[in-house]
Parts: sequence; structure tokens; C-alpha cells
Amino acid sequence: MGVKSKIVIGNWKMNGSAELVESFTRTMLDNQAAYAGIRVVLCPPFTLLQAMADALEGGPILLGAQNVSEFEQGAHTGEISAPMLASMGTKMVIIGHSERRASRGENDRIIAAKVKQALSVGMVPVLCVGETAEEKARGDSGAVVWQQLSVVLHAIGSELFGQLIVAYEPIWAIGSGSTASTDDILTITTAIHAKLAQLGIQLPLLYGGSVNAGNAAQISSLPTISGLLVGGASLQAGQFLLLCSNTAKGA
Ligand code: PGA
Repeated sequence: MGVKSKIVIGNWKMNGSAELVESFTRTMLDNQAAYAGIRVVLCPPFTLLQAMADALEGGPILLGAQNVSEFEQGAHTGEISAPMLASMGTKMVIIGHSERRASRGENDRIIAAKVKQALSVGMVPVLCVGETAEEKARGDSGAVVWQQLSVVLHAIGSELFGQLIVAYEPIWAIGSGSTASTDDILTITTAIHAKLAQLGIQLPLLYGGSVNAGNAAQISSLPTISGLLVGGASLQAGQFLLLCSNTAKGA
């Protein structure tokens, strides 16, 4: 995937309803001019994917999912496969979000398997990486993030890895109201780009963690950043529309 236009991905997490899909998409689709030139992706929970797919049909906003099974099919009760998601028109899938790593026991092996599943059906994996507050305090942010990336890189090879989007999301910044400083974002993402470039890989790097309408333009216009992964601020249509339009203005 090219790195030209900025991307804003809204991750609804375990929130939302059919009513929210309807009112949210109406606001977004009625105001397309405000975010023309950037790519917007919405990732509702699985149960709202079909309603979201129907509401977004024919418009500029892409459909994304928050998770995918590491398996292709079979006796895996409660799982949703990559082919199932793709058949609903899902174009992207968030993989390795810190909430899943921390509370659902997702390790690097499982995450790499999910990335493979997504790629096998042509969905773009949005691979999330980031350090804890303790790791940051120890000065280990860069090493931790590179370790998370390199496990997947080794599992799938550099050619496939180049098809990913990577989201740098410091864990301590998620849902906390404090974003990483622009200096820190620049330092980490410059290092990631440099390491990947040595392998001939160029891919979009997003930032996530307490992004809102007020800070979106500044963060998304950093030279190493191709867009934003947004949690809380993607649940209210007016706020998300403003966030997208501020990103488009800064693009
Ligand atoms: P937040 O979440 O924007 O609410 O901090 C970001 C994320 O979890 O991707």
C-alpha cells in the first residue's frame, strides 16, 4: 500500500449499536468534502460489520475489522475468519492491538498467523506495536517496538511485510488522554522507517494513543507519519468528522 494519502482509522472497540452506525455514517457521508484527499476507515465490532458495510456502500469510507482468527476455517468456536471478513467487504483489519495482547493472551506467533490470514485474502493488516510506560522509562521503546515488528517480519518475509500498515501505539498513551510527544513519535518512527528501509521496505506508519480533533493535524503532519489510529475520539460523529477534516487540512 502506498504512503501518499493520509489515513485515519476509527477503532470503535467494543462500542456502538445499529443506531450509531446509521447516524454516524450519515454525518460522515453527508460531509465528505471535509475529508476529501485522505482515506478514512471505520472498524466497528463484528456484529455491526454488515450494517456498516451496507451504510458505507458506494462511498469513500473503507470498512475495517478489529480482529481476525489465526485459522482459516473449521472447529474454532467463536472465531471469525479472514475469508468471512473479506466476503463482507472488509478491506483492513487491526491485528495485535495492545488490548488483545494484554487481555486476550495474543503473542507474536498468533499475531504473525493472523497477519498471514489477512494477507491471504487481500485485506491489509494494521499491525499495532508499542511499549509500556515501564519500558519507556527504561529507554527501551525503540527496542521493544522493533522486536514486535521483527517477529512478524521473520514469520512472513519482507515482501509480504511491505504490504502492511504499522500503527505505533505507546500503550501508556492509549485511552489515557496523554499522547506521546511529537519528539518521541518522530524518534521512534524515524528509527522504524530507517530499519525497514535497510530491508527495502517502505510502508505507512500510523500513530495511535489519545488522538483527538485537537491534536490530529499536528501529529498526522509529522514527516514520518502517514495517519492516525483513533479509539475514543472515533465514537462521536461530530468529533471524528472534525478530526478527519483537521487531518485533511494538514495533509
Ligand atoms: P484511544 O485508543 O484513541 O482511545 O487512545 C487508540 C487505540 O486503542 O487504538
